[in-house]
Amino acid sequence: RPRVLSGIQPTSGSFHLGNYLGAVRQWVDMQTSHDAFYMVVDLHAITVPQDPEQLRRNTRLSVAQLLAAGLDPEHCTLFVQSHVPEHAQLGWVMNCITGFGEASRMTQFKDKSAKQGSDRTTVGLFTYPMLMVADILLYQADQVPVGEDQRQHLELTRDLAERFNTQYGPTFTVPSAYILKETAKIYDLQDPSAKMSKSTANPKGLINLMDDPKVTAKKVKSAVTDTETVIRFDRENKPGVSNLLTILSTLTGKTVPQLEAEYEGKMYGALKTDLAEIMVDFVTPFRDRTQEYLDDPETLDQILAKGAEKARAVAAETLATTYARMGLVPAK
Ligand code: TYM
Repeated sequence: RPRVLSGIQPTSGSFHLGNYLGAVRQWVDMQTSHDAFYMVVDLHAITVPQDPEQLRRNTRLSVAQLLAAGLDPEHCTLFVQSHVPEHAQLGWVMNCITGFGEASRMTQFKDKSAKQGSDRTTVGLFTYPMLMVADILLYQADQVPVGEDQRQHLELTRDLAERFNTQYGPTFTVPSAYILKETAKIYDLQDPSAKMSKSTANPKGLINLMDDPKVTAKKVKSAVTDTETVIRFDRENKPGVSNLLTILSTLTGKTVPQLEAEYEGKMYGALKTDLAEIMVDFVTPFRDRTQEYLDDPETLDQILAKGAEKARAVAAETLATTYARMGLVPAK
């Protein structure tokens, strides 16, 4: 079975709809067809300041949400990044084979550091992509299910894997990004030209899966559309409506053309009301299941302990090979 690996940050506590449709949904689908490794990337989260108590809480909340979304520890390896020290270790190696200019071209870094100002931007944020490369290469992953915003990091991963393989002999599987066209980028409900993101200016545009379902319904109903009245998919001219159609299509399993036919002659209000209802039906049990996992911390800890053990077995082997190839003398 091909190997798959992906990660999600625990930063904001609640996952948003973009995280779910762009990534986590695919994780769930792939756990039975692939040898799957999924993690909550707490070491990535600390590249920006975190409140310790909140980080602890959000990391557990993230694991609970992944379980609620349908990850099954019998089918996949679910773990917390910092429980597997090899991530930081291989991350260092990746830093050492990356050009400074190459790292400087990472657009996510440029965007984030521009917002923060250089004194508040950490060196950790700058080296973030190389840690992500290590995350992937440690497991010899074939595929990495992510949203569009991670594409450049995946290209860096392929470049560094090939570079290392060329210089030191075949060591790493060169992975491909697994990005579903339809859901690669879910847009902000208030500003459908921007991707949905936890750092949005207007919280009304962001659907948090852990929000009160009433809040979610309200956000859907006040989504920005356009001045036409036709329900038709047209990313360019009708970004708001197209985003709603994408979301509805994914959650119902109906194709966009099917939905366009269904809503012919209907008003935007009808589309929003239906989507709001479907969202509420989705998030209500999701929140309940998440709470159940949070209420049983022992089970959660057991799942994570088992996950870390399985992950370490693979990661340690890759790291040892990497060190040896580079000429580091093994400890006896
Ligand atoms: P993160 O935590 O920001 O997001 C988790 C996943 O959600 C996807 N995503 C979206 N997809 C569609 N539309 C959106 N609006 C949207 N917003 C977020 C992201 O693309 C991502 O797949 N660097 C990564 C975490 C990471 C990782 C890894 C991923 C660390 N190591 C190794 C894969 C493999 C990140 O910050 O994702």
